[in-house]
Amino acid sequence: MPGHALIIDYGSQFTQLIARKSRALGYYAEIIPAGAPLAGPLSQGPGALVLSGGPASVEEPGAPGLDPLILESGLPILGICYGMQLLGKAMGGRLSREAHGEYGPAELFPVMDTPLFGKKDGDGSLRVWMSHGDRVEAMPSGFELTARTRDLPCAAMSDFKRKIHCLQFHPEVHHTEGGELMLKGFYEDAGMPSGWRMSSFAKEAVEGIRKTVGDGKVLLGLSGGVDSTVAAVLLHRAVGRQLHCVFVDNGLLRGGECLEVSEALRSAFPDLNLIVRDAADSFLEALRGVSDPEAKRKAIGKRFIEVFGEEAAKLGKVDFLAQGTLYPDVIESVSPQGPSALIKSHHNVGGLPDSLPFTLIEPLRYLFKDEVRKLGSELGVPEALLWRHPFPGPGLAIRIIGPVDSFGLGLLRKADAIVLGELEAAGLQREVWQAFAVLLPVHSVGVMGDGRSYGRVVAIRAVTSVDAMTADWARLPPELLGRLSSRIINEVPGVNRVLYDISPKPPSTIEWE
Ligand code: XMP
Repeated sequence: MPGHALIIDYGSQFTQLIARKSRALGYYAEIIPAGAPLAGPLSQGPGALVLSGGPASVEEPGAPGLDPLILESGLPILGICYGMQLLGKAMGGRLSREAHGEYGPAELFPVMDTPLFGKKDGDGSLRVWMSHGDRVEAMPSGFELTARTRDLPCAAMSDFKRKIHCLQFHPEVHHTEGGELMLKGFYEDAGMPSGWRMSSFAKEAVEGIRKTVGDGKVLLGLSGGVDSTVAAVLLHRAVGRQLHCVFVDNGLLRGGECLEVSEALRSAFPDLNLIVRDAADSFLEALRGVSDPEAKRKAIGKRFIEVFGEEAAKLGKVDFLAQGTLYPDVIESVSPQGPSALIKSHHNVGGLPDSLPFTLIEPLRYLFKDEVRKLGSELGVPEALLWRHPFPGPGLAIRIIGPVDSFGLGLLRKADAIVLGELEAAGLQREVWQAFAVLLPVHSVGVMGDGRSYGRVVAIRAVTSVDAMTADWARLPPELLGRLSSRIINEVPGVNRVLYDISPKPPSTIEWE
């Protein structure tokens, strides 16, 4: 997208925030990892470069360096933290290592008017967020000092002629006062076109998909989750009936889920090609006697690929396979720090047999989750589908601890419906990232009526999170917890005890298996 911001990722945990904040300000931004070839991305005509922070020290052996193409491009540059030090050193300045580094809030004093800080407000200061171990000791020639803190004589510097601006702190984090104005000021100074909106994304994505697909046939595995649903609707808008969606009912979905999702989609998009394949019995068969969580995932994944492959084969020659991969998945897999351990192992389409030769299309690969919801809204996806909680591919099978059978699934569906229904009634559905019930392989003693009971135990899990990488247990109101407990005990046969899971992730995970 010409005129966009190209962010070079040196491994900071905040790099994604730079892209999100830029887009929210109306400046489209893309991230590439440091060290990746730059010629291609530069040929797409970015309007400015942003060099992110990073955990390394510029002077240490093996630290990522400054690709000469960055300065040769002549583009306006914003260097943040590591990016500032990298520019400082490469352009002829001098760095020094601090004994203790500086982490957390600091008071920033701008010393002149700049496009980033605006008009200097007397002796006014801004609270900014620092995280660094090195500092620029002597600025390269052409640079002027633009801000300092009490401990840091050079907290920001600019080469106004070349439009190269450097900040030792992080303007992208929430805790930096005026951080968004700094990014906006940089983009304005760079002369970048603003006004990027989700509607522009939708329009461009539709045109791009049409160009790629031509008159080919596209296959998409629909799970009922937000990502695959929005991908389906976007593709449908682009290529209409050339898109074929396959929804496999693996019998491990929530109560009524398959019908709800398919009916909501059919009524909103009547001419969407939607194949619903009921394969519940065969999944249960594949799971019989399996209690190890990874063995469950493998059995489900294998069966899914078989069923999906059968449906694909019925469609004749398929040219493209579409997936709802999101940006965080893409970045995690390419980041210079990118521990492959972080990549989610979705079973959905990974590992399809070679006999199904498709070209992959991933129309959401540049979007974040919240942006996908915005896009879905733009495309007319029903709200009820957009705000569904994430649901794991292996479904309820990993919420029944131990072997899975249809009796256990029935109990769990009842408990699960109570949890979600009550959460929705309390108006907390959107505040909670994910909430569900887990059926434990434990019996406990109770009294029901006048008799002794020896019943099953259900655990409730409700977490808050922004990306599922970390999560905390949701502080649900005690009255709500009380209602959940009494309804589950009264309405789910054979259950006489309810627990609330108060474990954060890490060290626990969101799912129990
Ligand atoms: P954990 O349990 O690892 O879950 O904290 C993080 C997020 O991923 C979902 N999850 C899965 N999704 N296949 C999926 O498609 C899986 O095997 C799987 N396991 C966990 C989980 O629901 C949560 O949103």
